[in-house]
Amino acid sequence: MGLEQTYRAAMQRLPGGVAVVAARAGGRDIAAVVTSLVSVSLDPPTVLVVVHGAGRLADLLDVDSLWAATVMGAGQEGTVAWIAEPGRPDIGQLQGIAFRPGELTGAAILDGAAWLECRTTVVVEEGDHRIVVGRVLAAGTGTRDGALVHRLGRVRDVTAD
Ligand SMILES: Cc1cc2nc3c(=O)[nH]c(=O)nc-3n(C[C@H](O)[C@H](O)[C@H](O)COP(=O)(O)O)c2cc1C
Repeated sequence: MGLEQTYRAAMQRLPGGVAVVAARAGGRDIAAVVTSLVSVSLDPPTVLVVVHGAGRLADLLDVDSLWAATVMGAGQEGTVAWIAEPGRPDIGQLQGIAFRPGELTGAAILDGAAWLECRTTVVVEEGDHRIVVGRVLAAGTGTRDGALVHRLGRVRDVTAD
């Protein structure tokens, strides 16, 4: 096995919390499922997300752009699978999914476990991905309890009873 395969196999064992990052472009909501959302700093509140450079979202997350992230919760595996479906058209990406436009960003905040509104401060290109650092402008918890975790290529509900 080459390094790319062993690297992939290794990282597939790292559980990742599932979030949906969204931005608005040309009057449309563009959204992608990510496991790369992490907290960077509390003062000021700052996160980062790693997105594929060729993905539709990448160009919408340039410095100063506005976006939102929703931490997905229990029972949302179907929503995650739909949003992660490859080759979805730009139009109606969130059709049938409960969301509201963020007050500060206009970006889609889904019905989920928690949400953030962000403005990009730094973008670092690294390999085939971009590291996008976002200042948190607003944050809150949602109505969904529990958590989804991605591991070994599957999204699982890890809500404790
Ligand atoms: C569980 C899961 C986690 C993912 N994590 C990321 C991620 O952290 N960064 C990323 O760019 N794409 C991630 N993807 C892939 C994106 O959801 C999306 O398919 C990809 O960015 C292509 O988007 P596009 O077809 O809308 O351009 C993930 C997909 C799944 C199912």
